[in-house]
Amino acid sequence: MHREKILLAKALALKVESIWGVKGRIHFNVGGSQAVEDSLKLVRNACQGKSLMFAYEGGYHGRTLGASAITSSYRYRRRYGHFGDRAQFVPFPYCFRCPYGKSRDQCDLYCVDQFARLFDSKYYGVWDPKDGSAEYAAFYVEAVQGTGGYVVPPLGYFAKLKRVLDERNILLVDDEIGGALH
Ligand SMILES: Cc1ncc(COP(=O)(O)O)c(C=O)c1O
Repeated sequence: MHREKILLAKALALKVESIWGVKGRIHFNVGGSQAVEDSLKLVRNACQGKSLMFAYEGGYHGRTLGASAITSSYRYRRRYGHFGDRAQFVPFPYCFRCPYGKSRDQCDLYCVDQFARLFDSKYYGVWDPKDGSAEYAAFYVEAVQGTGGYVVPPLGYFAKLKRVLDERNILLVDDEIGGALH
């Protein structure tokens, strides 16, 4: 244990508490992919072992096996066989080249509505209305997409997405590793 490590952990935990009103816990790691691996274990532990995640088209979370499963580029998985825990990839809110051909002044965040639509019926593959449970444990996001092209989502996007996730009891994991790197 180093003094600096303890002081930094305390400063971060107090900051988390001042923002979200809950006592946070700090865990240091040696790299981004390893941190993502740890988060996957935390999510599985918190969600009765559910191993499926949502992540973004263009999203990058690292090169370890778990992180590759939620990274969109097939190139990074191609040589390594089947990934049973491969994420379901959702279009990133890139307003300049909107994946739905909308313009931001008129769309009312249509992309979030399209994500929410997945929970309208059991037939869309992610939700059991009878049980009220999702097959997916968490949505992994990059608050600003990094490796996939340095894209900033529109204002209000994450607030609307979070409301949908809360309704379905799905966690939101914010991977800001790239933010520190880029
Ligand atoms: C968003 C994001 N997550 C995870 C990683 C993986 O980090 P590392 O290369 O330290 O394993 C990166 C690396 O660029 C990243 O941008």
